[in-house]
Amino acid sequence: MVKILHERNIMKISDLNNSITPSGTMAISNKARLLKQQGKPVIGFGAGEPDFPTPSYVIKDVQTAAEDPINHKYSPVAGLDILKDEIVRTSKLYSGFNVQNENVLVSNGGKHAILTTFMSILNPGDEVLIPSPYWTTYPEAVKISGGNPVIVDTSFEDEFKINTEQLDGLKTDKTKILVWVSPSNPTGVVYSKDEAEAIYEWAFQNDVWILSDELYEHLVYDGNTSPSPAQYDAQLRNTIVINGVAKAYSMTGWRVGWIIANTEVINMAKKIQSHATSNVSNLSQIAAYSALKNGLTETEIMKESFNRRRLFAFQEFSNIPNVKTIKPNGAFYLFPDISYYCDGKIINNVNNSIDFCNWLLDEYYIAFVPGEVFGKNGFLRCSYALSDGNLQEGLGRLTKAIKDLQ
Ligand SMILES: Cc1ncc(COP(=O)(O)O)c(C=O)c1O
Repeated sequence: MVKILHERNIMKISDLNNSITPSGTMAISNKARLLKQQGKPVIGFGAGEPDFPTPSYVIKDVQTAAEDPINHKYSPVAGLDILKDEIVRTSKLYSGFNVQNENVLVSNGGKHAILTTFMSILNPGDEVLIPSPYWTTYPEAVKISGGNPVIVDTSFEDEFKINTEQLDGLKTDKTKILVWVSPSNPTGVVYSKDEAEAIYEWAFQNDVWILSDELYEHLVYDGNTSPSPAQYDAQLRNTIVINGVAKAYSMTGWRVGWIIANTEVINMAKKIQSHATSNVSNLSQIAAYSALKNGLTETEIMKESFNRRRLFAFQEFSNIPNVKTIKPNGAFYLFPDISYYCDGKIINNVNNSIDFCNWLLDEYYIAFVPGEVFGKNGFLRCSYALSDGNLQEGLGRLTKAIKDLQ
């Protein structure tokens, strides 16, 4: 007979529970959702995804593939060959580096690719340099993998860019990886070729891995772009590239990303993925294959809209008194400095950017993500991946909110 248990101590879960935080964009978007459900006219600036449908040829190819029984079965852990070959082809075509099919592992989105990479490289206590403001997943994925995130703080004045003196100052004998993302989420900043080359040179000389997150590779405006470190590292000795279809082809829900690395890393990542997820859904892989095969025409159309909204949003923020904004060259975000309004004196009970974003949501029904989520108090992230109408209306409300204070 099993005795019914009463009043026993709580069973223990992992100590990780004390160090990992949930995805930080959730709190404000949950609140925005609740307000919407109550019928409030909420406009969200939190979206980390394009507001366009996935291209129709992708849907058609997936419909056909769904009829084929071969796609109803398990497939190779590292990905379907047709997709991997297409990743090899487009990496050469768009990013200018040569790799082979065996250098690629397809995973469940860029996010999963990043976690698997950290798990493949890190030993307990290894350090990962992460430029701040950072995409919220990096430090948490490092911790899940047993490593220690080391934040490389940047300032508005330096356009949120790191430099090699900072890296020298933070490097220890435990430093294993540098996270690199250009264009950046959350700032939209793109490094110049010279700036990027100086950082790559530093990593190569110091035997530090570079995890180059290239998810926003195709969303660069004004023709400015920074080259992938893989262009300088033909053997992929130091370089691991992360990419995916989420942002460039409006395919966030399909969950396809990939790792490009040397075969030692890929074989390790394969072992991990074989026990974690087996293969990525075949239909999603075929969707990604179709997206890559059909080129960038749809991406260019989306980019035109993003560029128009970028210029509009930048202009609007620039006209708001005491708010400073860098004109970003990539992704679909602005990261304005709103610290002037966060000192507790200008707006009652607004002492940081979380308070400021809550105030905007409560009083004006506009939802931005506070800078704290990305490691930077005094800022907010504004995604301009929303319709032109909503962008105008929402930023109009923001302008009014600040005007009402004067
Ligand atoms: C910088 C960056 N890297 C990676 C990802 C992950 O993209 P996904 O997992 O949707 O492919 C995101 C998504 O927001 C991102 O902003």
